Amino acid sequence: MRKHNAAAGDEVTLIENLPTADQYLHLRAQNHWRPVSTAEVETAMANSLFSLLAVHQNRIVGCARIVGDGGLYFYVQDLIVDEDYRGKNIGTRMLQALLEWLAKNAGSNAFVGLMAADGTEGFYSRFGFERRPGNRPGMSISIASLQEGRNISPSM
Ligand SMILES: CC(C)(COP(=O)(O)OP(=O)(O)OC[C@H]1O[C@@H](n2cnc3c(N)ncnc32)[C@H](O)[C@@H]1OP(=O)(O)O)[C@@H](O)C(=O)NCCC(=O)NCCS
Repeated sequence: MRKHNAAAGDEVTLIENLPTADQYLHLRAQNHWRPVSTAEVETAMANSLFSLLAVHQNRIVGCARIVGDGGLYFYVQDLIVDEDYRGKNIGTRMLQALLEWLAKNAGSNAFVGLMAADGTEGFYSRFGFERRPGNRPGMSISIASLQEGRNISPSM
């Protein structure tokens, strides 16, 4: 494990490590994000390119990671600060550490994106993240609709 902004005593320390499924699920549940399984989380975390934990007195109080193909496409994902610890600059420190990692590890033609959660656009725009233009929107599809066979073919 490597420490970022290592600090002693009462400070929150950033550590390069994966959350356990329970740690991640706990942080995720605070935001009422849709439920996911432990097996899905274990697979997801293991496939991260880079992952940070924020630790305060042995308690995991935040996580953040980079996912992607490691070559051309990188996404900031799962940046979460424990609700008892928000507004203490921890999210900013974690995003800064993710961006430092990207600057060192992504090639000069790489794309860096994220899906901002409701109400967080301002948090990211402080760093220079920009909303995509209307003619190049981010798009998503429900996996349930694919598994039910509804969206496998184009609609008429
Ligand atoms: C968004 C989040 C990660 C921010 O972490 P944090 O540690 O509370 O934020 P910080 O203390 O580093 O905030 C630093 C600055 O960003 C601002 N900020 C924080 N959250 C913000 C938001 N949602 N929108 C706009 N600005 C925000 C703060 O006002 C602060 O500015 P200030 O210093 O001028 O007061 C945290 O609120 C969180 O975990 N939210 C729930 C999970 C989530 O939605 N994550 C984003 C997934 S895309």
